[in-house]
Amino acid sequence: MKDVYDIAVVHGDGIGPEVCAAAVEVVRAALGNRSPLNFREYPAGAEHYLKTGESFPDASFEGCRNADAILHGAGGIPGVVHPDGTEAGLDFTLRLRFELDLYANIRPIRLFEGVTCPLAGVKAGEIDYVILRENSEGLYAARGAGVQLRGELAVDNLVQTRTGVERIVRKAFELARQSNGAPRDGVRRVTCCDKANVLRSYAFFRSIFSRVAEEYPDIATEYVLIDAMTMHLVLKPGHFNVIVTENMFGDIISDLGAATIGGMGLAPSAELGDRNGFFQAAHGSAPDIAGKGIANPYGTVLSAAAMLDWLGVRHQDASLAAAATNIKTAVNDALASGCLSADLKGSWKSADITRMLCERVAEAN
Ligand code: IPM
Ligand code: MN
Repeated sequence: MKDVYDIAVVHGDGIGPEVCAAAVEVVRAALGNRSPLNFREYPAGAEHYLKTGESFPDASFEGCRNADAILHGAGGIPGVVHPDGTEAGLDFTLRLRFELDLYANIRPIRLFEGVTCPLAGVKAGEIDYVILRENSEGLYAARGAGVQLRGELAVDNLVQTRTGVERIVRKAFELARQSNGAPRDGVRRVTCCDKANVLRSYAFFRSIFSRVAEEYPDIATEYVLIDAMTMHLVLKPGHFNVIVTENMFGDIISDLGAATIGGMGLAPSAELGDRNGFFQAAHGSAPDIAGKGIANPYGTVLSAAAMLDWLGVRHQDASLAAAATNIKTAVNDALASGCLSADLKGSWKSADITRMLCERVAEAN
């Protein structure tokens, strides 16, 4: 337990500042007057790049690295790009992932009561799984290191290391052990999602998965190819419990999974290394709706709750764990009572949702 926890806050671009401020407000309300959290803001993102030529200043990086946790709104503006054509606003997220070795990206996909599932006949509780995205290698490890030759060809390499695959697979089994299993049958199950039928790198991933799985005889295992997975996540989402997969595949099925529970606005994410934790919703910066007060803050609020959970376990601080539980309950109740933003076909503004959540968590205190 610590007296003070330093939280590095980066607002980012588009709706980033709106959803980030909402999450900070809800966390403050949940912790009350004696909150041990000390929020410190740092600049980064596409907007900052336009202003200064730097997307992620070293001082901001150091602030994030030394903080107890990092909270981010969202980053990136389409068209704000480096000379190689890649987006400058993504440097923040990607540099943190690689340089702080945030290898485990935990992305819960859960259908809440009160939200209409786009899949016919699926009810709250019937979708409840975790996508565990390997976050430090895979295809995205090639960021900034690919080759473009004479305008004729381009190559990015997909990287899988034994150490990298082993640790993410172990994490998947640990998550499954702590879970209630898949909604459909209650079975604790880890699904290895790859493309081992075509590429050596994925066959390697699968072979390491099989070996590690032997250490967890209490957990069911299965193998699903990524293309088939996109179908299963739509047709039988209740079958899944924990899905472990390579970086880019995890990126793609995160959005697919989010769509099945009503959209990106309800998908939180926690990016964890052995020392640092980075929390942001899985969605992007949605510049088209920025500044209109209609952004959905739930994803970032839930990510902030995950931050409190993580800090609570790490520092054996029950007050943080309790605040996390309050926030998650408040989100459940608010959604169930129809407190829905425009993306969820409701008419609640971000500020009203935030106020509602603050009231609920303050009551629970
Ligand atoms: C995500 C985002 C990121 C990614 C961007 C912001 C770099 O889409 O976290 O899923 O592509 O991984
Ligand atoms: Mn993504």
